[in-house]
This record gives sequence, structure tokens and C-alpha cells, in this order.
Amino acid sequence: MISLVNVNKYYKNDEESLHVLKNINLAIAPGEMIAIMGPSGSGKSTLINLLGFIDKQFEGQYLFEGKTLLTSSDETLSKIRNQTVGFVFQNFSLIENNTVFENVELPLLYNGYKFHQTEEKVMAVLKKVGLADKADKHLKQLSGGQQQRVAIARALINVY
Ligand SMILES: Nc1ncnc2c1ncn2[C@@H]1O[C@H](COP(=O)(O)OP(=O)(O)OP(=O)(O)O)[C@@H](O)[C@H]1O
Ligand SMILES: [Mg+2]
Repeated sequence: MISLVNVNKYYKNDEESLHVLKNINLAIAPGEMIAIMGPSGSGKSTLINLLGFIDKQFEGQYLFEGKTLLTSSDETLSKIRNQTVGFVFQNFSLIENNTVFENVELPLLYNGYKFHQTEEKVMAVLKKVGLADKADKHLKQLSGGQQQRVAIARALINVY
């Protein structure tokens, strides 16, 4: 489903070039669970950004379900990302001034759901992560671990 062939990634500026991903070959089958491990600064987030189509500046080949998506429009990529990729960002990237419910609902709205169609799904996934009773709370009223679970709920909502 996911296949990287001879992938290299450099971060370049005027003075220097940092070779972060060095000739990566990776195949991930549907349903396969993998963990990417390595020391801080070794390139895990760089690799994840590439797998999630956030970063298209690399050398080599990335096939997603057998297709190169590099030439796809940003709009197409956003759609594929919305429907197939769930991210829990390192800093959670939650919207501070929105409620727990609104944060988890957002990917559904991007995916074409109307406001009144989201409640059942959002509440189901919040229940799954143990936060059903916090749905109306603002992010600031939650502990770090609870915020992390909101991020997990948001990452799962479109595939739930
Ligand atoms: N936008 C960028 N421009 C230049 N260098 C970058 C950029 N992003 C990351 N780097 C560098 O690339 C290397 C890999 O960074 P990356 O964020 O992929 O590491 P990581 O494995 O996710 O680390 P951590 O475990 O700390 O999150 C690091 O040396 C970092 O300084
Ligand atoms: Mg990282």
C-alpha cells in the first residue's frame, strides 16, 4: 500500500545541506502496524511528513496504493490525506479556543459532513478515548494526557 524506493531527503539552505533520509526503502502492507523509532533528530518526523504528503520535496519514489501522487494537485492530496491519514502531531496542533467536540469534529466537516450529521460519530470516538464527559470543555481545561487523547480521537474520526 505504501512503498518508498531509494528515497533521499535533504534540508538545504544557502550555506549547508543536511542529508536526513538516506536511501530509504520501505514497504508497508495494508493493516500492517509499524513503529518508526530512532533518536531525537534522526528523521522520524521528516519521514512521517513525507508519508502524509505534507512534504513533497524529496528524491526517489513514493508510491501510495501503487500510484505516484507527487504530481497531484494540493486539493487532491488534501482529500487523500483527509480520508486516509490520521496524524497526532508532536505538539497536538489542537485548536485552543475550540471545544473538545469541535476539535474532533473538524476532519468530518472537511470531509463534507454537515454540522448536524457529526454528533453521533464524534461522541462515539470521544467515548472510545474516555472523554465523552469533556466534550463541551475547552482545550485549556484539559490535562496534557487528555489533550493527547483529543488528538488521537481527531486522528481516528475519519476512519472510525
Ligand atoms: N525544516 C527544517 N529545516 C532544516 N532542518 C530541519 C528541518 N526540520 C528538521 N530538520 C533537521 O532534520 C533532522 C531530522 O529532524 P526530524 O524532525 O525529522 O527528527 P525526529 O526524528 O522527528 O526528532 P524528534 O524525536 O526530536 O522529534 C534534525 O537534525 C533537524 O534539525
Ligand atoms: Mg519528531
